[in-house]
Amino acid sequence: MARRKLCVIPGDGIGSEVTSAATRVLLAATHDIDMVHAEAGWQTFCETGDSVPSETLESIHQCGAALFGAVSSPSHRVENYQSAILKMRQALELYANLRPVDGRWAHPPNQVNLIIVRENSEGLYCGVEHGDSESAMAENRVTRRASLRIARRAAWVARFNRMTRITIVHKANVLPLSEGLFRAAAREAIEAESANIEIDERLVDIAAFELVAKPASFQVLVTNNMFGDILSDLAAYWCGGMGRAPSLNLGDEFAVAEPVHGSAPDIAGRGVADPSATILSLAMLCRYYWQDESLASQLESATIRAIRERYAPGERLEFDTNQFVERVIHFLSLNHRTCAQPTTQ
Ligand code: NAI
Ligand code: MG
Repeated sequence: MARRKLCVIPGDGIGSEVTSAATRVLLAATHDIDMVHAEAGWQTFCETGDSVPSETLESIHQCGAALFGAVSSPSHRVENYQSAILKMRQALELYANLRPVDGRWAHPPNQVNLIIVRENSEGLYCGVEHGDSESAMAENRVTRRASLRIARRAAWVARFNRMTRITIVHKANVLPLSEGLFRAAAREAIEAESANIEIDERLVDIAAFELVAKPASFQVLVTNNMFGDILSDLAAYWCGGMGRAPSLNLGDEFAVAEPVHGSAPDIAGRGVADPSATILSLAMLCRYYWQDESLASQLESATIRAIRERYAPGERLEFDTNQFVERVIHFLSLNHRTCAQPTTQ
């Protein structure tokens, strides 16, 4: 097999802590990956005037796959600034964002096992705004092309994970043109993709309630960019919080693994960030992009074992990124040894 290439983009705040932790784990699991580093984010913008320099995009083009940590973004308008992750999603046509929530990553574990498939290329989240301090407007563009494309991806994700139901989440009762278009196109695409998938739908407000009240009833959810952003943070509660919520930005050519969380300035530089979400994002890259299920499950099960151990009676509760990484690597090595044992009959 050709050697795989990974472009690592730490970004701002805890981005560098979680990406260096996760790549240490990856290198302990396999020697088959070459890594290069690239810059993006707020700091990069301050230094170069560009949140994603063209060399970074070029490097992702060459590697095909990237790991992105997190970036900081100002809450006020800054001339010429565009969020790095938005820019990457657009430039690389990463039109889908897969956000799984798995109760095995939580403490105590629970039965939740769902995947939010978030439209990643259009809608309010693109940040196309006009106006001034008296009146402002944000564009919410919805196209049939992007809605069909994301729903096909959701059907693919369902089949990949042997899931049988997709819930379309929308707000077509209030926005019948835009959200109605999304709903109708999503239904059409899923019906055309597979007769074996049950199609369900929810208005986004009741979906939020049910993600709190009965999260284990969901399998795959497909929704727009903004609802997907909000619902995935809400649902992350069920997999142990922001430090445990992974994601994969996926297009037809490229993939960028990315924890759901941001740059966490409140804990940056203290060595206490949980790298699980970033390791689990790499596992998603292995599973969906490199189609290497064996490596994906090794990373996942070693992470789960390290999480379990952390909450064993008597364990201290303060998180230590380095110590956690060492434990994940320890469980990976146990797994290697178990796999290497010859079976005796
Ligand atoms: P955040 O996700 O950075 O942090 C929210 C809370 O979760 C904080 O209390 C933080 O300490 C905690 N947290 C996050 N990741 C953690 C981890 N790995 N381990 C332990 N605790 C963790 O969101 P916040 O505070 O709203 O935003 C901070 C900055 O990040 C902002 O500039 C925002 O624009 C940016 N942001 C960037 C994203 C990205 O790069 N994809 C996504 C979300 C926010
Ligand atoms: Mg978010």
